[in-house]
Amino acid sequence: MSQDTFPINGTDYVEFYVGNANQAALYYQAGLGFKLIAYRGPETGVRDRVSYVLKQGKIVFVLTSALNSDHEISRHVAKHGDGVKDIALWVDDAHYAFETAVARGAEVAYEPYTIEDEHGRVTLAGIKTYGDTIHSFVERKDYHGTFMPGFIDKTNNRNDPSCGFKVIDHCVGNVGWGEMNKWAEFYQKVMGFELLITFDDKDISTKYTALMSKVVTNSNRYIKFPINEPAKGLKKSQIEEYLDFYNGPGCQHIALLTDDIISTIRQMRKNGIEFLYVPDTYYDTVEARVGKIDEDIETLKELNILVDRDNEGYLLQLFTKPVMSRPTVFFEIIQRKGAESFGKGNFQALFESIEREQALRGTL
Ligand code: FE2
Repeated sequence: MSQDTFPINGTDYVEFYVGNANQAALYYQAGLGFKLIAYRGPETGVRDRVSYVLKQGKIVFVLTSALNSDHEISRHVAKHGDGVKDIALWVDDAHYAFETAVARGAEVAYEPYTIEDEHGRVTLAGIKTYGDTIHSFVERKDYHGTFMPGFIDKTNNRNDPSCGFKVIDHCVGNVGWGEMNKWAEFYQKVMGFELLITFDDKDISTKYTALMSKVVTNSNRYIKFPINEPAKGLKKSQIEEYLDFYNGPGCQHIALLTDDIISTIRQMRKNGIEFLYVPDTYYDTVEARVGKIDEDIETLKELNILVDRDNEGYLLQLFTKPVMSRPTVFFEIIQRKGAESFGKGNFQALFESIEREQALRGTL
């Protein structure tokens, strides 16, 4: 067992740059069952931006908008639409993480600094990753407040039922043609991640659409980053479509882990969240493909939940439609029952069922 030279405790928060953080915050509460916990803006002495901090389980999302047009955040939103800016990683020593990453070739996003309030100290530092996305390193071992210095506690009288999200399971990056290996190697070289799985275009393709993917993970496996690049098919790759609309590489989806996907999806549907459509025919072959499972197939069919099996067990998952105006970022909802993989069987089954439906309609 080699020593971990880049210890990461887990994901700290994910920050989205959005056009209207105030309204987006309501979507995450009413639609996804998050709770508002903290806020930063002009009222707290920050003149150029507002941030709303939302939490569910251990998942923290920060929604940030600029208050004027000549601002890095406004330019980010103009270029990419609403999107993920920062996948922040929780570390014990932010200086060490930053210096190690930079010595191993990472580009600086911002230099380390420490902020402080009556609840303690937080040290932050940031490196760049694909596109305009960054990773902050967050050291909060001496901090006992709600989020971090500079933010005030903020709640409201909403009472949205939780959707049962526990933690972030994985965050997927879409990168340009031929760039998957570069970025998979970046995480291996800079942060000591290991390569978990490789999917080539034969794994994730149909006659029409294709992509390639490599999954990298840190030593405790709490952080999993699949990296996708487009592959040639008869039609435009879904990754290429993302790159066109996002104007370059970026985070494609965040997978949220639940331990009761049936309740989660039921609640989300009630909240008006829309999901990728799964044809009924998908369920005709589900038992043949994955064998016996605990859940009732009819219930899965009613809620459109997908199932896949690997050597360790099975998983249930479902993908929302894009949650931004541009068809870019979406969420995956996932429940793991032993399986540690990513639903490879569903890429095939889902794409194939969609095309089977298309063939029936004569639109393929
Ligand atoms: Fe995923």
